[in-house]
Amino acid sequence: MAEKGGLGTLRSVSPSKASILDTLGRPVRDLRISVTDRCNFRCVYCMPKEVFGRDYRFLDRRELLTFEEIERLARAFVRQGVEKIRLTGGEPLVRRDVERLIEKLARIDDLDLTLTTNGSLLPQKAQALRDAGLKRVTVSLDSLDEDVFRAMNDVDFPVSRVLEGIDAAAAAGLAPVKVNMVVKRGVNEGDLLPMARRFHGSGHILRFIEYMDVGHTNGWRLDDVVPASEIVAAIGAALPLEPVQPNYPGEVANRWRYKDGGGEIGVIASVTQPFCGGCTRARLSAEGRLFTCLFATRGHDLRAIVRGDTTDEELDDEIARVWRARSDRYSELRTAETAAQPKVEMSYIGG
Ligand SMILES: C[S@@+](CC[C@H](N)C(=O)[O-])C[C@H]1O[C@@H](n2cnc3c(N)ncnc32)[C@H](O)[C@@H]1O
Ligand code: SF4
Repeated sequence: MAEKGGLGTLRSVSPSKASILDTLGRPVRDLRISVTDRCNFRCVYCMPKEVFGRDYRFLDRRELLTFEEIERLARAFVRQGVEKIRLTGGEPLVRRDVERLIEKLARIDDLDLTLTTNGSLLPQKAQALRDAGLKRVTVSLDSLDEDVFRAMNDVDFPVSRVLEGIDAAAAAGLAPVKVNMVVKRGVNEGDLLPMARRFHGSGHILRFIEYMDVGHTNGWRLDDVVPASEIVAAIGAALPLEPVQPNYPGEVANRWRYKDGGGEIGVIASVTQPFCGGCTRARLSAEGRLFTCLFATRGHDLRAIVRGDTTDEELDDEIARVWRARSDRYSELRTAETAAQPKVEMSYIGG
């Protein structure tokens, strides 16, 4: 499998875009915006019930960025070079009237706008999302086995409803639909082949994600990670695969295609083949904190700036200042000790 990352694999910088560079020469190209820290699932690897239970204090409505504030920030990031925005969460579709936000963001010129969801609300929302201007969706689904999936989402949510959501997204034109499967050793590795077979030839792109040490509540251990090489070998033994060139330098997923023409899969090897060298991604939490790495411990408060009496120029300067100081490369430095350090939760920062 092609080695990803290294500081030489930066995405080419389009001349039409401004490009602030961080200390390692990386431009900002992607922005993930978490629109809520709440979720209707309690995936064991993300929001374990023991932590995210009745007493957990989620953000208050007043603490969340309003849609107007999110739009202002999104436009500021686009001025700095962002070309792609992904809405996430928590579960983004539980944020009330999220379609209104999509309408606002879809009006930004030349922006690739997408969203990651657990799929539970897609059957009723896919068409409205498409009508609002959303282009594509990624749906998370960790297993086709009813018992395994219900145990992983931990709210007894059935597989069939997520499959309905995927169908609704495709029917609404939110395609190609990407399907994300987090693989955890001893939990759902038995689902690798059934998932590959289910989506082979479907037009959807299945992506396998190595289980990561995000946050500090999921009790991550390196032994829980099924390495990407093992995933590709297991699938390739039954459904022969060949590597595909990345869509662009620095693409997060390693791409593989079925030799029989049944489509392609992606493998996101953030633990075994870290891609920090090509990381052009910024993250905005639901309360407006800017994180320059998924594994950061601290965010920069942009809400105070958008709520203050500041000009767009001052906002741009602040974003540029934070990005220029960026030196994060956590995944490349990860060791048993760093993995145990406190980090923000995936449900807060949005994956
Ligand atoms: C945090 S979720 C937010 C969006 C939405 N609720 C969903 O599940 O798609 C975004 C993605 O992160 C993945 N994820 C969460 N915790 C993870 C972990 N510890 N390691 C790898 N991926 C993880 C989820 O499976 C999902 O595909
Ligand atoms: S992975 Fe997504 S669906 Fe699962 S608990 Fe986290 S935010 Fe919710």
